[in-house]
Formats: sequence, C-alpha cells, structure tokens
Amino acid sequence: MAKNVVFLGPQGSGKGTVIGKIKDNYGVPHISTGDMFREALREGTEFGKKAQEYMNRGELVPDDVTCGMVRERVARDDCAAGFMLDGFPRNLSQAEALTQITDIHAAILIDVPEAVSMERLGGRRQCRDCGTIFHLKFVPPKKEGVCDRCGGELYQRDDDKPEAIRERLAIYRSETMPIADYYDRIGVLLTVDGSGTPDEVAAQVKKKLG
Ligand code: AP5
Ligand code: MG
Repeated sequence: MAKNVVFLGPQGSGKGTVIGKIKDNYGVPHISTGDMFREALREGTEFGKKAQEYMNRGELVPDDVTCGMVRERVARDDCAAGFMLDGFPRNLSQAEALTQITDIHAAILIDVPEAVSMERLGGRRQCRDCGTIFHLKFVPPKKEGVCDRCGGELYQRDDDKPEAIRERLAIYRSETMPIADYYDRIGVLLTVDGSGTPDEVAAQVKKKLG
C-alpha cells in the first residue's frame, strides 16, 4: 500500500471513523491534529488552552504551531513504515509545508454533502479515554454515555455546536477544498463517496489504498 496517506474531507465526512476502522490493517499510526490539540488541552498545557480558543470559534490554529507539531510527530519512530494523517493539511500553505517534510503517496478525499456533515456532527459523541467515535443515531454505543471499547465516558465536542460547525464548514470550502487540486496535480488524489455506512466507506478506502 501507499505509505504516507493524508485524509481530506469536510467536517463530519468520517475521516476519524474510517481511519479507526482500517489503521490496524496497515499497522501505521493514526495522527489527528484535532485529537493532538484536544489531548494537550486535557493535559492542561498552555499550548492546549491557546489552541482551544481557535477551535471553539471553529477557526484554524495558526500554521506555524500546527506545522511544527506535525513535523515533530511524523519524525517519530512509529511513522517509519508510514502514517495516516487526519485533519492536516487544511490549507495550501500546510500542504506545501508537508511536501517539504516528507513525500505523500496518497490523498484520500472523503466526499459528503454539507447536509450530511451537519447531521453527523450534531449527534457525534467521542470517548474521553480512547477517542473512539460514536453517533447517537448512526453509530450508537451499546450503553448510553459509555464507550463500547474501553468503558470510558462519552462527551460532545465543544466545537460541535451549530455556530462553530458553520464556521468550520465555511473554512473548509474556502481554504481546504483547494488542497484536493494540489494533490490531484501531483497525481495522488483518490476520491471516495462518504455517504454510505461506515463499513461501506471503509471498504472503499481499503480498495483504493490496495
Ligand atoms: P478536527 O478534530 O480535525 O475536526 P474536523 O476537521 O472538524 O473534522 P471532524 O473530526 O469533525 O470530522 P471527521 O471527518 O473526523 O468525522 P468523524 O469520523 O468524527 O479539528 C478540530 C479543530 O482543530 C479545527 O476546527 C481547528 O480549530 C483545529 N485543527 C485541527 N487540525 C488543524 C490544522 N491542520 N490546522 C489548523 N487547525 C487545525 O464522524 C463524524 C460523526 O459522523 C461521528 O458521530 C460518526 O460516528 C458519524 N459517522 C462517521 N461516518 C459515518 C457514516 N459513514 N455514516 C453515518 N455516520 C457516520
Ligand atoms: Mg475527526
């Protein structure tokens, strides 16, 4: 398979969900910049608190911070056989910075209409401990408020509120969508329809990655 893979797609398209389903097949780490910021906040660091101000407004955290964090992360030993990047890059300058850091062998674009994004984000719940993603209607936990995988507490993300969702989708349209053309031009863009069930979308992605 392609080694270094980035996942593109609007908020709620299912990037985190799909990677959670397939990463063990490939034995490479799932690197989510959003999860890294949330983890820093949980640890109570200044860095996490600063990032949260941007996240709660639905805005992007400044590029220098985000690019530095990714540069350091992909240099670690566990990325030697590749990685699955989720939520990075999100604008052209991040895409160009990533090209300077390492080669990207595939960019998977998970495509869904905005109405689907809105419905999915509104019902999302995530485990505080292991990060597993659920949905009240589409991917319900067996027991309300409790993670099936580790028994941790499920919570709603602060940025899954209507105003922040609208801002995130607007930034996706203006800043992130152009990255698909960037990866298309270098011949690594692979598009999948994200509107099926999580298992259907995961199967399509596996087929594309080989
Ligand atoms: P981040 O955590 O990356 O959030 P996001 O981009 O808003 O994307 P989501 O996590 O909302 O969507 P997803 O595609 O992963 O969907 P999921 O699988 O959870 O970033 C958060 C913030 O951090 C940013 O706004 C920004 O402030 C900052 N940040 C992060 N990266 C940055 C960067 N590079 N530069 C600057 N700032 C950055 O699925 C959603 C829901 O749908 C779930 O409930 C799930 O159960 C359900 N679902 C998934 N797939 C399906 C399906 N096929 N059918 C039915 N339901 C489904
Ligand atoms: Mg995500």
